[in-house]
Amino acid sequence: MARAAGKAQSGAPLKNLEEWDDFVATRYRPGKSQEEFRNYQQDANPTVTEFYRQNHAGQTLDFVLAKKKEFGGLKRDKKSVWEMAAFLETLVDDSDPDTDLTQIEHLLQTSEAIRRDGHPRWFVLAGFIHDLGKVLCLWGEPQWAVVGDTFPVGCAYSDQIVFREFFAANPDSKVPELQTPYGIYEPNCGLDRVHLSWGHDEYIYLVARNYFPEPAQYILRYHSFYPAHKHGAYRHLMNARDEELFQWVRKFNAYDLYSKGTERPRFEEVRSYYEGLVSEFMPGQIPW
Ligand SMILES: [Fe+2]
Ligand SMILES: [Fe+2]
Repeated sequence: MARAAGKAQSGAPLKNLEEWDDFVATRYRPGKSQEEFRNYQQDANPTVTEFYRQNHAGQTLDFVLAKKKEFGGLKRDKKSVWEMAAFLETLVDDSDPDTDLTQIEHLLQTSEAIRRDGHPRWFVLAGFIHDLGKVLCLWGEPQWAVVGDTFPVGCAYSDQIVFREFFAANPDSKVPELQTPYGIYEPNCGLDRVHLSWGHDEYIYLVARNYFPEPAQYILRYHSFYPAHKHGAYRHLMNARDEELFQWVRKFNAYDLYSKGTERPRFEEVRSYYEGLVSEFMPGQIPW
């Protein structure tokens, strides 16, 4: 697959975005004991640690609101899903093209695992597009505003968020009103009213929400919300609908984390299936 020539973003701690994904997968490796899990910091190399330092310091309520405003109007681009997938493949990184999966290969492994288990077509397609929001990086957004475990801003940080101590450098942590359990929100107001840290999840949700049933919207929007879907945090902000639909987020997460096989997926063999799928749900060029 083609990789664009050029320089990686300056000041970007991760050598590629998968370094974060790999850290998460290691953290939740099957069979890991609670004890081992609590030692997650040992699984984080210095670049991952630096990544979280930047992420936790920079994701303020104001930052999130500004990014939603900047990207929420979907005025950035008009591209088909295929054009955007090809664009994502140009992401410059230092991964080894012989052994590391490309972005699209990760998407395909996820969606093919979902398909093998006989899930509905919208679920397969949600798997295929769930990380397309990483194109944010190609528009100059820093890594800490593209990937990372997501968490609500505008209220207290749960101690279920990894590297929670790095929030000390976040300006919001000095604002008492933003540090109560509910902060700017009402009890059980529902996650739709809660602002999560900005990244590829919220962005792909904004792009794709009108093409998908609600469970798929939840998958796209909350797939990196590990404090909630893995650790049960923030239930005081969730409503009954969130509780119900999070079963889909959890179901999806297993595919996202554990579908990495040793074999590279062969796109040519499944191309016509995916062309049919994309034209059924997201035909033609769409606004990004
Ligand atoms: Fe993702
Ligand atoms: Fe993913």
